[in-house]
Amino acid sequence: MIDTEVTALLALGSIALFVIGLKRLSKVRTARSGNALMAAGMLLAVLITLLEIGLVDYRWIAGGLLVGGGIGYAIVARAQATQMPEIVARFNGFGGAASALVALSLFWAEVVEVTGDGTAVTALGLAAAVTLVLSVLIGSVTLSGSVLAELKLRGTISGTPRIPVRGALMGLFVLGGLVLGGLAVSAFDDPLVASLLVVGLVLASVTTGVVLVLPIGGADMPVVISLLNSLSGLAAAATGFALGNQLLIIAGTIVGAAGLILTQIMCVAMNRSLLNVLIGGYGGDGGATEHGEYEGVVSADAESAAMVLEAAQSVIIVPGYGLAAARAQNAVHDVARALRQRGCEVRFAIHPVAGRMPGHMNVVLSEAEVPYELLFEMSEINQDFSQTDVAIVVGANDVVNPAANSEPGSPIAGMPILDAALARRVFVIKRSLSPGYAGIKNALFEQDNTVMLYGDAKQVLDELAGELTANT
Ligand code: TAP
Repeated sequence: MIDTEVTALLALGSIALFVIGLKRLSKVRTARSGNALMAAGMLLAVLITLLEIGLVDYRWIAGGLLVGGGIGYAIVARAQATQMPEIVARFNGFGGAASALVALSLFWAEVVEVTGDGTAVTALGLAAAVTLVLSVLIGSVTLSGSVLAELKLRGTISGTPRIPVRGALMGLFVLGGLVLGGLAVSAFDDPLVASLLVVGLVLASVTTGVVLVLPIGGADMPVVISLLNSLSGLAAAATGFALGNQLLIIAGTIVGAAGLILTQIMCVAMNRSLLNVLIGGYGGDGGATEHGEYEGVVSADAESAAMVLEAAQSVIIVPGYGLAAARAQNAVHDVARALRQRGCEVRFAIHPVAGRMPGHMNVVLSEAEVPYELLFEMSEINQDFSQTDVAIVVGANDVVNPAANSEPGSPIAGMPILDAALARRVFVIKRSLSPGYAGIKNALFEQDNTVMLYGDAKQVLDELAGELTANT
């Protein structure tokens, strides 16, 4: 063991790394180093904990690090960028499970083992007992909710089934879980009864997670995952209280707050309330619900589109979910490169909820090494569309739908959109006139200045890049 003042100082260093890392994550340019700083903070936190407990049995700890690290590496190494929301869901579930398991082991050590020996009553104080129960409850809700969220994102479970009196049912399970947990902690004299009550608490909590997530459509899952992320942080903080570990309390609270802020940002960007998302039934599993009647839609092939692009001085590319689905990031970079070589100014306009997860477009474009300085947030670039020769909308739909401004009854009414419609010429690359996630018609496709380039995004962009380089 080492001096508590030294470990407290080191803990402060670890927290500082978390906070600075989190701040750096908010900008594309600094996100990579932010991630590294936070990983270093986590490593420091593990080392501090080892120092505090005096390396009691390093074999378990080394084994845990190896197995956990190995599983984490195996999951991420094979993953595609488009699978990121599923992976985040799985890691949230692991976080919730870890907090619940630590709390359960504390319960075992402090209640069952002590009373099993027939020795003194547990040393667990009231505050620790309450937070222990909360940790098991929130951790188990996070685990089952995250597993379901991942299965929904993968499409293994589909549909948005209505659960009658869902709110009341969830309230009942949460209350039941709290009562069972309370009874378990106070059932000092009988380890068997205490253990059965804890099993009841776990079952009630797991069911709450299922009832919470089941009626919500797959397309709303990123918001749900962000909320579950916040819950996993709260579970960790509750475990920190139960263990008396300040580092865990602070780290858990940071995760809890960050997850909640991200949830709020996503809801605002979609112009939806969190309650509206949680009620469920919106957008189905991918959104495509209504094709709408279109009139006067004009389409062209890549060859004639390339001729227009060859004359363009300025181009703004608007990537959307379809770019990620088609894995067309390298192809779009090729088009941008070919245009820039011709002296054309090329910029990418990034809508905050384009795609299916926060930062989806940034992740996908950085995979293709599109320079950061070409990426612009909506607020930085929206005013420039009206002075731009060509807007190329690649697999985006809702984020450029003028209905958000012009149709008060639309599901996306009030959602801030990219004003691609104001460019002199708009090329829309998608496979058909099918709607996007919100399941509604897009009047942009009927505009006089819009030309549809039908096809898979990667294929159309490859053709465009080929034409642009061939004619250099
Ligand atoms: P969407 O409105 O969902 O439109 C995507 C379009 O991509 C579809 O209309 C589809 O049309 C096209 N597409 C699909 N596969 C394609 C392929 N292989 N090649 C070419 N096109 C393809 O996407 P968006 O504009 O990015 O908007 C995102 C939506 O998701 C918003 O409504 C947002 O609120 C919602 N949402 C976002 C998030 C986050 S955090 N990003 C979270 C939850 C919900 P075709 O089928 O005709 O090809």
